[in-house]
Amino acid sequence: MQTDVRSKLIEAFSKADGKFISGQEIAEYIGCSRTAVWKHIEDLRSEGYVLEAVRKKGYQIVSKPEKVTANEIKLGLQTKIFGKSVHYEESVESTQKIAHRLAGDGASEGTLVVAEEQTFGKGRLSRSWHSPKHTGVWMSLILRPNIPFHQAPQLTLLTAVAVVQGIEEATDLMPGIKWPNDILINQKKVTGILTELQAEADRIHSVIIGIGINVNQKNDDFPEDLRQKASSLFIESGQPVSRARLIQHILAKMEQLYQLYLDKGFTPIKILWESYAVSLGKEIKASTLTETLYGKALGITDEGVLLLEDNAGQIHTIYSADIEI
Ligand code: BTN
Repeated sequence: MQTDVRSKLIEAFSKADGKFISGQEIAEYIGCSRTAVWKHIEDLRSEGYVLEAVRKKGYQIVSKPEKVTANEIKLGLQTKIFGKSVHYEESVESTQKIAHRLAGDGASEGTLVVAEEQTFGKGRLSRSWHSPKHTGVWMSLILRPNIPFHQAPQLTLLTAVAVVQGIEEATDLMPGIKWPNDILINQKKVTGILTELQAEADRIHSVIIGIGINVNQKNDDFPEDLRQKASSLFIESGQPVSRARLIQHILAKMEQLYQLYLDKGFTPIKILWESYAVSLGKEIKASTLTETLYGKALGITDEGVLLLEDNAGQIHTIYSADIEI
């Protein structure tokens, strides 16, 4: 099915909000014949959608396949801009790589790249990110904020807040944030965020926010070296989580917070971030590229930089490090 027809069809069901919609209404909405509607419905069925058809009432979506295709994400999405354009792939090296290409080609703000699997998922500090098929959320969002270069890390913190709030809405879990952007449940990492920029001089062209969430993995699905420190929403809650629904919640939260940030600046985001932070006020070990520091995490600056007070009372500003609590 052509993607524009598919989007329209999904949009028609989305507007019907779980109720029946007649073949005639769908045909008018899409601008095609009743016979074509029937064919499009069959295409949806072949993709795993369960649709009920009742004479004189029309069609109703009973259940959707557990995938994170553009349709899955768009059906029920409550945003104005984020995720309105979705680039979906079954398997990619890294969604970051695709998002960079799309951003360079002029993709609009809010464009989302999402994949079922990444074969070379990228983590922070040049690490790899384990991204097995169909079990996690591996996505990259393109933003085009008009902010100076040095403020870009604030968007990482904003994203961490949005992901925590999205997880809270989609599950019964209450995650915390470890500076700068690890999301933890029971001290284990369930989400990582990687922010990359396309910029020249002090002008940002685009910010590519990569979000990796371990959603439905079981313990055995993690390589042995990760089992002690990583977990998934399924392991922590005992319930499978719909990845598409989770993405919808996160995009909605991100759009709200991003608007708040553009209107009111970083202060309200910082307050929210601090309310979820698990490391503040605690003794931590910070391993930067050049040194290892021990001390108390005092807080973050308006630039999102961590302040650490060492045992001699000296205050260090930390831009990038691995933190152990
Ligand atoms: C971290 O090291 O904590 C950050 C991990 C970020 C992983 C995500 S998954 C989607 C996007 N694509 C990538 O290759 N990496 C990010």
